[in-house]
Amino acid sequence: MGYDIAVMPGDGTGAEVVAEGLKVLRAAADRAGFTYELTNYDFGAERYLRTGETLPDSALDELARHDSIFLGAIGHPDVKPGILEQGILLKARFALDLYINLRPVKLFPGVETPIRDKGPADIDFVVVRENTEGLYAGTGGFLKKGTPDEIAVQESVNTRKGVERCLRYAFDYAGRPDRDGTLTLCGKTNVLTYAWDLWWRAFNEIGDADYPHIKREYSHVDAIVMWFVKNPEWFDVIVTDNMFGDIITDLAAMIQGGLGIAAGGNINPEGTAMFEPMGGSAPKYAGQNVINPLAAISSLQMMLDHLGQKEAALWVEAGIVHAVSKMDSLAAGRMGMGTSEVGDLVARHVAEG
Ligand code: IPM
Ligand code: MN
Repeated sequence: MGYDIAVMPGDGTGAEVVAEGLKVLRAAADRAGFTYELTNYDFGAERYLRTGETLPDSALDELARHDSIFLGAIGHPDVKPGILEQGILLKARFALDLYINLRPVKLFPGVETPIRDKGPADIDFVVVRENTEGLYAGTGGFLKKGTPDEIAVQESVNTRKGVERCLRYAFDYAGRPDRDGTLTLCGKTNVLTYAWDLWWRAFNEIGDADYPHIKREYSHVDAIVMWFVKNPEWFDVIVTDNMFGDIITDLAAMIQGGLGIAAGGNINPEGTAMFEPMGGSAPKYAGQNVINPLAAISSLQMMLDHLGQKEAALWVEAGIVHAVSKMDSLAAGRMGMGTSEVGDLVARHVAEG
């Protein structure tokens, strides 16, 4: 079986970490016996600075025809913040309808967490973030802009369809054999009484009708960040909206060991999906072979899982655990080895089992 994979290394250290991810993909494919074809896309700061182009519509059609997209990082000191994020990342999410943002939060053995007295048995949950609506929908506007009476309105858009498809994905995820069957809705029903009323009703209706075997919990967003620090072991699968998901997953990344290890997927369950390490392009580390590629390798693992290569995904996870056991630290420049050595360690472990 052959997969078509689009590769977008992007900016800064993106290409370096993507190269290590692809090394591991090679090893996983050889062992599992599947084939794939890679197509490289040069979207990012350099192309933008050269041509003014971020992600052209013609490329979107091409990307949509791939089974998955593997993204490195975007962002460059010479490009005003927001241009590439909106022009590439958010555009891909919206145009390809990648309506799920999946963020596994797992503390691997040997990885240091700032949460004292918590270990791998305590920190192992998944955040399912709605990825195309809410405050990210881009509706709103200015009134009397630039005057002392200026008004800025930024609206949170929540459609029944958008909320429902996200909840169903999360319920299904909570029912996977590797999860323990609890889904927590993270919202703000006490204050944001329109949006979260819709989410709350849909959560309970869908749960009662189609997922009676999944245990339902609820937490306000302000409380959940408190519990992430105090009792992360309470959580298994969490579902939330776009903005809350953005915020809580950065906190979650820190308790799983930081940006060196955190990975995410932007998924259309009926179409393509884009996987990326959570860390940025880290321009100051570019080209030095010091950046940690484990987040990119971890996003490659998510890609394999998404493509249905479940066993290969588990091999990659074992390879990551192996690499962590040999590294001094997960921080860039303090790993005790170089970017490519970390990739080699994981790839060799995947190849040899
Ligand atoms: C993320 C990022 C993006 C977001 C930015 C880069 C637009 O923070 O994937 O979480 O806000 O969604
Ligand atoms: Mn974010």
